Amino acid sequence: MLEVEFAGLKLRNPTILASGIMGESAGSLIRIAKSGAGAVVTKSIGLEARSGYPNPTVVEVECGILNSMGLPNPGIEEFGREIEELKEIDIPIIGSIFGKDEEEFALLAKRMEGYGVDALELNLSCPHAKGYGLEVGSDPDAVKSITKEVKRNVSIPVFPKISANVGDVVEIGKAVEEGGADGIVAINSIRAMKIDLSTKMPILHNRFGGYSGKGIKPIGVRCVYELSSELDIPVIGVGGIETGEDAAEYILAGAVAVEIGSAIFYRGIDVFKKVCQELEEWMKKNGYNSIDDFRGLALR
Ligand SMILES: Cc1cc2nc3c(=O)[nH]c(=O)nc-3n(C[C@H](O)[C@H](O)[C@H](O)COP(=O)(O)O)c2cc1C
Repeated sequence: MLEVEFAGLKLRNPTILASGIMGESAGSLIRIAKSGAGAVVTKSIGLEARSGYPNPTVVEVECGILNSMGLPNPGIEEFGREIEELKEIDIPIIGSIFGKDEEEFALLAKRMEGYGVDALELNLSCPHAKGYGLEVGSDPDAVKSITKEVKRNVSIPVFPKISANVGDVVEIGKAVEEGGADGIVAINSIRAMKIDLSTKMPILHNRFGGYSGKGIKPIGVRCVYELSSELDIPVIGVGGIETGEDAAEYILAGAVAVEIGSAIFYRGIDVFKKVCQELEEWMKKNGYNSIDDFRGLALR
């Protein structure tokens, strides 16, 4: 009932672990796979190891969390060892990478493909890492050339992940499509800040962070709706999904699948199973037998 297929990938259900939450080690990815997710995205991996920003890097805010991790990761060389251990996972593994230009992205993409991942997610949208992410991903020409260069170098599906922190998501979406991407992921966390009333200073060490969780869901749904209306490639929705009904909303806006991140903090690692059960109940109540029966209905 919940199976989905897009860009040549077959998922047992439309829930995917979002990048950066429990996706750094093989052990945690295996736990997520066993807890019911349809696919997993790894933590974003760069060329060299990075330790990320000093603490505090995460703070709870209204309707979600702010994080400014600074893309900590072991580097592409070391990460190969983690992927090696993932052989027992029987769901698609999507390798997330970040770089500062098309050469870096292409190099990382080839290494990730060599490790045996099933698809690639290009992080073009981190809201708090200097020189990476959003700084690259808000320029349509850069987005197009990075996508094109990665596509030229690998044969697995490529999904650029974009931000809502751009003037026009459709313009960036079109650049992704023109670059030859097999799908697009929207959205990353949203650039935000929290100030401590006692110290009168921003709480996060990096001052700015990315806002995720329930509070950003309406923004994510809007972006998925706009992208689904204007693009021909599949759109994967992410941002504030905690329940089956949240997932249904994204699918009605046109999403082929949904990624879940912050909800793990609120509902535990079983969130994938819970969202699937709730989605199935919602579908039965509404008389739908498959995801395709209601995907994109809101676009009429
Ligand atoms: C602690 C934390 C770390 C994250 N790290 C990454 C990352 O490495 N790469 C990436 O593309 N997105 C990263 N994200 C963004 C999520 O993948 C997701 O796009 C965002 O949190 C919105 O979804 P959510 O509301 O379900 O959490 C991170 C989010 C959080 C909360």
